[in-house]
Amino acid sequence: MKKIKIFDTTLRDGEQSPGCSMDLTEKIEMARQLELLGVDVIEAGFAIASPMDFKSVQTIAETVTGCKVASLARCTKGDIDAAWNAVKGAKYPRIHLFLATSDIHMEYKLKMTREQVVSAISEMVAYAKAFCDDIEFSAEDASRSEPSFLARCYSAAVAAGATTINVPDTVGYSTPQEMSELIAFLREHVAGIDEVDLSVHCHDDLGMAVANSLACVRAGATQVECTVNGIGERAGNASLEEVVMALKTRKDFYQAETSIHTGQIYKSCKLLSSITGVPIPPSKAVVGANAFAHESGIHQHGVIANAATYEIMNSSDVGIPQNSIVLGKHSGKHALREKLSSMGYELSDRELDDVFARFKDMADKKKHLTGSDLEALILDRRHAEASGCQLIGHVINAGDGVPNTSCVKLRRNGEELQEVAIGSGPLDASFKAINRMLGMEIQLDNFSLNAVTNGEDAIGEAVVKVSAENSAIYTGTGLSTDIIEASIRAYLNGVNKILEAAAQVPGKRGEHGNDDDTEDTGPPRGASRGAGGAADPGKAGPGFGKRHHFAGSNQRV
Ligand code: KIV
Ligand code: ZN
Repeated sequence: MKKIKIFDTTLRDGEQSPGCSMDLTEKIEMARQLELLGVDVIEAGFAIASPMDFKSVQTIAETVTGCKVASLARCTKGDIDAAWNAVKGAKYPRIHLFLATSDIHMEYKLKMTREQVVSAISEMVAYAKAFCDDIEFSAEDASRSEPSFLARCYSAAVAAGATTINVPDTVGYSTPQEMSELIAFLREHVAGIDEVDLSVHCHDDLGMAVANSLACVRAGATQVECTVNGIGERAGNASLEEVVMALKTRKDFYQAETSIHTGQIYKSCKLLSSITGVPIPPSKAVVGANAFAHESGIHQHGVIANAATYEIMNSSDVGIPQNSIVLGKHSGKHALREKLSSMGYELSDRELDDVFARFKDMADKKKHLTGSDLEALILDRRHAEASGCQLIGHVINAGDGVPNTSCVKLRRNGEELQEVAIGSGPLDASFKAINRMLGMEIQLDNFSLNAVTNGEDAIGEAVVKVSAENSAIYTGTGLSTDIIEASIRAYLNGVNKILEAAAQVPGKRGEHGNDDDTEDTGPPRGASRGAGGAADPGKAGPGFGKRHHFAGSNQRV
């Protein structure tokens, strides 16, 4: 069996998708889960993008020890310095350099000739190699680059010390056949290719990212770049769970395996979804709510007789919790720990105390708790309230034809605050009461409510997108059997993120990357071009470049 390395870019390319930005604590939580999942490389971010990005890459590098930690960098000394400074504390650091090689990118974006691009690659890979042994080079827009020029670029990268060369289908334009032929061509024409890892990075603009990645594996790729839930720039990247389960389920065909602990897949997908507030679509392959559900009578009959009639994977292989009733209000802490552990959650004593308190609270309102209920409790972001405003209680007076009022009581920095407000509905009144109490003008940009589990006593999860004047948009989530309480908790969760970001003003970045100063349009103003078009050392860094605001998009890589 050939070993395929999984390079996870959820925290870099994934975080670039609208609605998926994460704060430092959330990125660390996600990075720890990726380590448990068994990925080979975590791309933790783009260190030069902002001080906040630098800090997250650095903290993840110092936290994660079970896999490589990479930072992205353009082919400039300033980017490479920042990337190295951010990852050098990692047990296994990697610098990931990229430069576009397609004619359209070189002419209109980089304004560099082919010769300049090749010498920038040689020079900058060698510059990075002086810091770090493990260097990946990506030829951006590789799939639309002229193949023999592309092979020349990769050969230059390998000669200068790259240990992985990555082939991105940056705009998701290629087909599986074309990607496969490109990989075969590069294996023939890149000097030294057998000494390095050959990686692919496919985007999903035409819905072919996973198929393209798998075709590359068949053609000889040894690393696949992907993201949890397939999040990423525009239509996203190849989905990690789909690539991994396709390789596992069709081992007979691909003759390849990964080091992923597939039992951690569902947990990883749910964690990301709870952090970003972006739900997993019901019919999503591998982890969607319907992925293992059988609706038609004929299918149900077949599955009862023999599951293999209609099931090609086992839900337990990806760690989907069984939804039989598991615990009730009389269950003790020991039983809770056992159950959580069987679901793959190992909690410290302090974490268990916290979850147990919420479990008891929930069990008072809901007679029986299932695996999904327990999972929702674990993923509830209420712990984030610990350092901000905590909800103590609320009283609502709502109806039709009467003013809707809400009285909300909070604790902030040890002080109890309470306020009453009138609104067009109970939520509007509650949110106004919170705004008034905190003296803030918070804007509610989006609100949604989902039932986490089934039944009349289902747990509801509220997700809000909130922002303050001049702040980024933050996602808040809240959970309760009472949908008004879930909504107030979600709102507070979002508000706490605004308060926390305001407390660390430098480097805060908008959800759409508005404060992100990374462009890739040649040298920064005031910096001279080095040989091959690379920016002047030391001058590239936060604070250069123009800003563009693209609604619903961003201006990162
Ligand atoms: O899509 C792309 O080309 C990228 C590179 C930076 C690898 O994300
Ligand atoms: Zn990408």
